[in-house]
Formats: sequence, structure tokens, C-alpha cells
Amino acid sequence: MGKINKSILSSLMKKFVMAITGFVLAAFLLVHMLGNLQTFEGGPHAINAYANFLQTLPWEFLWGFRVVLLACFVVHFLMAFLLWLENRSSRPLGYNVTKYNASSWASRYMIYTGILVIAFIILHIMQYTMLNLDPYYKQFKWVATSGMYEGKTLHDVYGTLIYGFSGMWGWLYICFMIAIALHLSHGVSSMFQSVGFRNEKWRYRLNAAAVAYCVIIAAGFSVTPAAVLISKYTSCQILPVKEVLAQVEKAKQGDVKPVFINYDFLGEGK
Ligand code: HEM
Repeated sequence: MGKINKSILSSLMKKFVMAITGFVLAAFLLVHMLGNLQTFEGGPHAINAYANFLQTLPWEFLWGFRVVLLACFVVHFLMAFLLWLENRSSRPLGYNVTKYNASSWASRYMIYTGILVIAFIILHIMQYTMLNLDPYYKQFKWVATSGMYEGKTLHDVYGTLIYGFSGMWGWLYICFMIAIALHLSHGVSSMFQSVGFRNEKWRYRLNAAAVAYCVIIAAGFSVTPAAVLISKYTSCQILPVKEVLAQVEKAKQGDVKPVFINYDFLGEGK
């Protein structure tokens, strides 16, 4: 009996730690998603200046932030993995745990969507932070025409995003966002339970809030790849994909490196 209590207690502790680290990760997603929406501010300036501002933060801030994020991520995954192992090993105990197992379907499903999230993050960092998923990404350069970076040559995040999402990555990102939404929808609602916020009265409201949050996050992230693909394949030009790809094609043919996309057609970049 004492052993069971101890194991339940440690499961609760693990869930609590998962809730806290999950909260930090979910909050990061909201900030990141809102930051990305600057891609729609009419040209390269907003997103390029923003990305450059983040990259040039004092290293203590930048690396402090990265270490906290990575620590939350590792601890979150480790707790999930330990809980998953516990659930598996509790299975042969008999019919008594069958009911518990019925609800553990969600946790088994969480581990798979969680693995997809990890795969996504590794690919994503290689693609847009390290810029080494496609060697061509590093070639995108842009000269700031106003603001605090005026006259400076920066990485052209705007051009890289358009180029990056115009192929299979655009479609893959939208699929990954569905996995992230599924993971978040269960994660956020269990987070409320683990920290003791979810009682019978609030259960439905908090579940609805969790679903709304994950839909907002997934939709907010998906709009960029979706806008690139719509602009590429239809006449609806949400982003200047056709112009950017035409200039990239020309630069590739002439073996021009680095690539400075001329955004004058947007009325910017003068
Ligand atoms: C369409 C969706 C997304 C876009 C367009 C996007 C864009 C970017 C870009 C451009 C960077 C590089 C920032 C820089 O160093 O200049 C970045 C970094 C990053 N993104 Fe995303 N992102 C998306 C979705 C996500 C999602 C869903 C997650 C998490 C599940 C995520 C996690 C990260 C992380 C951890 C970094 C590294 C931050 C750092 O360098 O410290 N991103 N993203």
C-alpha cells in the first residue's frame, strides 16, 4: 500500500514538473508565433530587424534564455518518458488498472506526438537558426534601409522563409503544426489538472480554453507556410513569392552569391 502511495506521489510530482516546464514551453510558442506574424507587415523590414535584434542580444540573455528553454524541454521530455514507462509497467497488474489504462491512451498518443515535436524542433533549428538544412539559406542577405540597422547587411530571414516554405517544407510544416496542436491540446488541459486548477466546475471551460489556445498557436504558425504556398500556386499574392523565387532562380543560374533580393517592387528597400 505504502509502495503504491509512494509511486502515485512520485507520478504526481512528475506531472507537476511537466506542467511547469510545459507552461514555459507553451508561453514561448505564443511569443514566437506572434513574432513570426511580422512576416505579414508588408515586406522584409519588420521580420529581418526583429530576427537580427534577437540574434544580437547580449550573450548572457540569449544563452540564458536558450539554456532555460532547453532545460525545460529536456526535463519535460524526461518526465514524460518516465511516466510512459511507469504506465507500461503498471499494465500487467490486472483489471484494476484497466480503467487507468483507458485514460493512458492519451499519454501513449502524447509520447508519439511529442516525438514528432522533437523531430520538428531539431529540423527547424537546423533550418532557420543554423541555416544548414539547405546550404543556399546562408546566401540570403539584406541591407537595412531604415531603423537601428540602417546600412547594415543582415541575414534575409524574409527571403529565407519564402524560399524555404515554397517547397516540401511548406507542406511538412503544416503537418507538423497539426501534431503540435494535438500535443498541446492534451498537454495544456492536463497542465491545469496537474497544478490543481481543474475541478468539476471548471473542467469544460479549461478544456475549451486549452483547445482554443492550441488552435490559435497552430493556426498562427501555419499561416506563414500556407501564405507562401497559396501565393506560389494561385493568383492570390499574400506574400511576394513569385517575385522572390524568380530572383532566386536568376541568381542560381548566374551563380550569384550571396543573394540580395531586390524588394523595390514592394515600395521598400530604397
Ligand atoms: C511556421 C512556423 C515557424 C516559423 C516561420 C519559425 C521561424 C523561426 C525562425 C526564423 C527562427 C530563427 C530565429 C533567428 O535565429 O533569427 C526560429 C527559431 C526557433 N524556433 Fe521557430 N518558427 C516556427 C515554428 C516554431 C515552432 C512550432 C517551434 C516549437 C515547437 C519553434 C521553435 C523555435 C526554436 C526553439 C528556435 C530557436 C530559438 C533560438 O535560436 O534560441 N518554431 N523560428
